Amino acid sequence: MDRLLVTGGRRLEGAVRINGAKNSALKLMAAALLAEGHTLIENVPRIMDCSTMGEVLEHLGAGVGWDGTTLMIDTTGRLGIETPYELVRKMRASIVVLGPLLARFGRARVAMPGGCNIGSRKIDLHLKGFERMGARFTYEHGYLEAIAPVLQGAMISLDFPSVGATENILMAAVGARGRTIIENAAREPEIQDLANVLVEMGAKIEGAGTTTIEIEGTDAFEPVRHRVIPDRIAAGTFAIAACMTGGEVLLEDARPDHLELVMDKLQEAGATVEVEDGGIRVGLAGRPLAVDFVTLPYPGFPTDLQPQMMALLSVARGTSIATENVFESRFMFVDELKRMGADIRTEGHHAVIRGAEWLSSAPVRALDIRAGAAMIIAALGADGTTEISDIHHVDRGYQDLDSRLAALGAELRREPAVPIPA
Ligand code: EPU
Repeated sequence: MDRLLVTGGRRLEGAVRINGAKNSALKLMAAALLAEGHTLIENVPRIMDCSTMGEVLEHLGAGVGWDGTTLMIDTTGRLGIETPYELVRKMRASIVVLGPLLARFGRARVAMPGGCNIGSRKIDLHLKGFERMGARFTYEHGYLEAIAPVLQGAMISLDFPSVGATENILMAAVGARGRTIIENAAREPEIQDLANVLVEMGAKIEGAGTTTIEIEGTDAFEPVRHRVIPDRIAAGTFAIAACMTGGEVLLEDARPDHLELVMDKLQEAGATVEVEDGGIRVGLAGRPLAVDFVTLPYPGFPTDLQPQMMALLSVARGTSIATENVFESRFMFVDELKRMGADIRTEGHHAVIRGAEWLSSAPVRALDIRAGAAMIIAALGADGTTEISDIHHVDRGYQDLDSRLAALGAELRREPAVPIPA
C-alpha cells in the first residue's frame, strides 16, 4: 500500500483537464449489458473503480478492451449472471448490474455488499423497486439471487432519492413490460447521462433529471458510442485544492451547470469564479472565509465534496457549520484532520469547524476516496510534509491525481508503505 508525501505551501496554478465522471462511467458500463454487440464509451477515467467494473463485466462473459480512455465492451458472447464477492467487496457499485441483468435475462446472482467507511449503505430501495416489478429474491451464503421471469412495469416511489436505486431501477425498467414511473427519483447529472445513453440504445424515457421518471419498456437495444460527462466531483476537488493554496486554476471541460452550488459556496468563502469558454477559472487569495453548508441530493451541495470543503474551512477566518444529510458516517475522517491541528467538533450529522490559522503536517490516513482527497487538500495547505497512508483509496476515484497536482505546482511524491515491524 503506497503512501503519499505532500509538502504544503505551494500555490496551485495553471490548467487541469477534468476527466470523465466516475459515477457516470460505472453505470454506463453496466448499461452496456442490455444490448448485444460492441458498445464504445469514451472519456472513461482510468481509475481502479472503472477497472473493477471492467472485471465485473469480464466475469459476466463480456469482452472489455481499453484504448486510452475509450472503453470497448463486447457483449456478443454468452453472458453469465453472477457477480462474485471479491468484486462487490472491492466496489459496492458492482450491484448496479442487477437491473440490466434482470431486464435482459430475468435472473441475476450478486454478492451482497457489506458496510463501508461512510455508512451501512443499504440496498433496500433497489430491491423494493425490483419487487414492485415482480422480481423475487432469495439470500444464501452471502449472495442475493433475483428471479423475474416477467419483469412488469410498476409505480415506484422511493423513500429517499437514492442515486444507485434510481439507476438500477431505471436499467431494469427500460427492459420491463409496460410503463414504470419512478417518483422521488434522484436528479444527479450522472442519472441524466445514463438516461441519455439508454435512450440512444433504444429506451423510451421521459423526465430524467427531474423527480419523476417515466419509462416505457422495450426489448430492442442497440449498442452505441457515448462520451461520459465531465466529473463534477473531480472538478470541485481541484477547485477546493486551488483555494486551499491561495492559487488559481482553470478547470478545463468542467460543466458550470453541474457545479452551481459548489461554486456559490466557494464564492461565499471568498473565491473568484469565472466561467470561460471550455471551463471554469477558480482562485482564492488569502485565507478563506467561514461558510455554512448542508449536503443534500443534487442539486444540493454534494456529499462527495463535503470532506474536501471541511479541509478548506478548517483554515477559514471564523466558524463554519457543515451538515451531512446523505451518509450517516461521513465525518470519520475528521479525527485525521484534527491530527493536523483542525479544530472540529462533530455532533450527530453536524460539524462545527473553528478556522485555525494554519494546519501542521502529520502522518494521517485516507479513509475513503473523498476523505483521502480531503487529506491531500489539508496537506497542500499545511506546513511541512504530510504522510498520507492508504492512498489506494484515492486511486479508486481520481485519475492521475498526483501528476496533475504536480503539474499545477504541488510538491508530492509516492513511496511504498514502510512495513510495520513484527
Ligand atoms: N440508501 C438506503 N437504501 C438504499 C439506497 C441508499 O438507505 O437502497 C441510503 C444510503 O445508505 C445513503 C443514502 O441513501 O445513506 C444515499 O445513497 P445513494 O444510493 O444515493 O448513493 P449510492 O448510489 O450508493 C452514489 C455515489 C456516491 C455518492 C452518492 C450520493 C456511485 C458509484 N456512488 O452512491 O459516490 O456519494 O451516490 O451522491 O455513484 C464517491 O464517489 O466517493 C461516492 C461515495
